[in-house]
Amino acid sequence: MKTMICNGASSSQRVQMLAAQLDLPVLQVELHRYPDGESGVRIAGEVPPHAIVLADLALPDEKFLPLAFLLDNLRELGAKRITLVAPYLPYMRQDKRFRNGEAVTSRTFAKLLSPLCDRLVTVDPHLHRYHRLEEIYAAEGTVLTAACRVGEWARENVSAPILIGPDSESRQWVERAARHANLPFLVLEKLRHGDRDVQISLPGTFQPASHTPVLVDDIISSGHTMAETVRALIANGTAPPVCVGVHAVFAESAPDLLMKAGAARVVTTNTIPNELACIDVLPILAESLRDSHIR
Ligand code: R5P
Repeated sequence: MKTMICNGASSSQRVQMLAAQLDLPVLQVELHRYPDGESGVRIAGEVPPHAIVLADLALPDEKFLPLAFLLDNLRELGAKRITLVAPYLPYMRQDKRFRNGEAVTSRTFAKLLSPLCDRLVTVDPHLHRYHRLEEIYAAEGTVLTAACRVGEWARENVSAPILIGPDSESRQWVERAARHANLPFLVLEKLRHGDRDVQISLPGTFQPASHTPVLVDDIISSGHTMAETVRALIANGTAPPVCVGVHAVFAESAPDLLMKAGAARVVTTNTIPNELACIDVLPILAESLRDSHIR
């Protein structure tokens, strides 16, 4: 077998699920944490020419070093091609030096990860000031999107939905989801004053129609962007909005914050596994990876 899949920073269940969809064997990897806090990685099997590595990279700092050890070890032990599958690609939001002296961590993270893989496959990365992954990643990039599935989910599960993006950055996802599902959409304006301090404004012409608002954003992190949007919409007479996030980073207790703000429901994809994930992206990943097998 020339292609195998292994666990870079995921669960063995998720790796098995992707392997089954691709009809590929799993290469076993053993991770070890030494008493001094250092990590050890062992590949328990013969390294194939092509290794697909699944890494769930929310909370990336603690996962990055063991992943780097695995990728480098795969290369040293004979992998000719390494495909890193990171359904959620972290560090993309720090895409400029917002304050003097700040590190542009998206670039540094890309510089660290790029030499360790040949191809990087991801879903809806936060491409805002960058337009293509290749602007910062030297590895070949494959950008997939869950927007169509988000639009379908809204059409099938919400009565008379209107998709709403909280800020201009969300337009790319909201517009694609709405056009695919043939739904109306609206993009609002956001001013961020701090990590947990955002202000949302609705257009002066906003009319609470008989639609149910479905907020769509790429990332729900602290949840404050969506919570403020929920409050602003309800204050303007809408029905309780449904919140849909592609990447459930869920720093702090974001879902609680959203429900307390008045959301009807919080739903996400499973780019980051979590209890509220109703939209499955594994088939999207599998379809893209199927083309690249070396058998
Ligand atoms: C940034 O523009 C992103 O698209 C999200 O709107 C943002 O990351 C959400 O963060 P939080 O949930 O912390 O407000």
